[in-house]
Amino acid sequence: MRVRTVAVVLILGVVILGAALFVTSAGGFSARSEPTAAERIVARALRRWATPRQARTATNPVPFSSDAWAEARAHFADHCATCHANDGSGQTDIGRNLYPKAPDMRLAETERLTDGELYWIIENGIRLTGMPAWGQGGSDDADTWKLVHFIRHLKDLTPEQLAEMESLNPKSPADIQEEREDLDFLSGKDPERQATKGAHQHPKE
Ligand code: HEC
Repeated sequence: MRVRTVAVVLILGVVILGAALFVTSAGGFSARSEPTAAERIVARALRRWATPRQARTATNPVPFSSDAWAEARAHFADHCATCHANDGSGQTDIGRNLYPKAPDMRLAETERLTDGELYWIIENGIRLTGMPAWGQGGSDDADTWKLVHFIRHLKDLTPEQLAEMESLNPKSPADIQEEREDLDFLSGKDPERQATKGAHQHPKE
């Protein structure tokens, strides 16, 4: 019996060591690489199992309305778009360089999550990923339920709504200054200066 236990522990040790070696040989701890298909499947399955059934089957208590949608757009633009992008694609400097990456929430994988699961994720975050917990863990945070509506309506966003969201994205003092200078340049107040749109982007490899 004892020999068996030792054997199991040894085998487990070898498997864990093997997995660690595999991870490190496949690009070390760089966040740049994509999680493997196996990692993705295991992580999603664990996430699902770890969500209490009651939370998973909860229905959205906030009725969808144009006001709720507008509020959620502003909220998302301010708190979430840094990683997820206004359109939910995850195509931002931060979102596409996290490990795991911010997902494209317009795709079926996200659509398949229940309203309750989306709420649970936003409220509690996802451990060992860049996704923070945004709530206190309760089940009746109306702002979070409105964000669930927002995610359900990503495909309905109009170019005007996206432009409005862009104006609500967080900006650094340097961004604001740059925008002001660009406006001055474009309105002819400061013809010496050249418009610098995009000058702060990091060079692509
Ligand atoms: C700092 C970056 C960051 C911010 C800010 C952020 N998220 Fe996330 N989010 C992530 C990452 C990374 C994942 C993917 C985690 C994973 O693969 O398990 C994620 C996953 C999600 C998911 C699960 C989608 C799916 O299909 O698995 C939802 C829903 C979500 N975020 C909503 C939000 C909302 C709403 C906000 C704003 C209140 C927000 N996130 C802010 C990084 C972020």
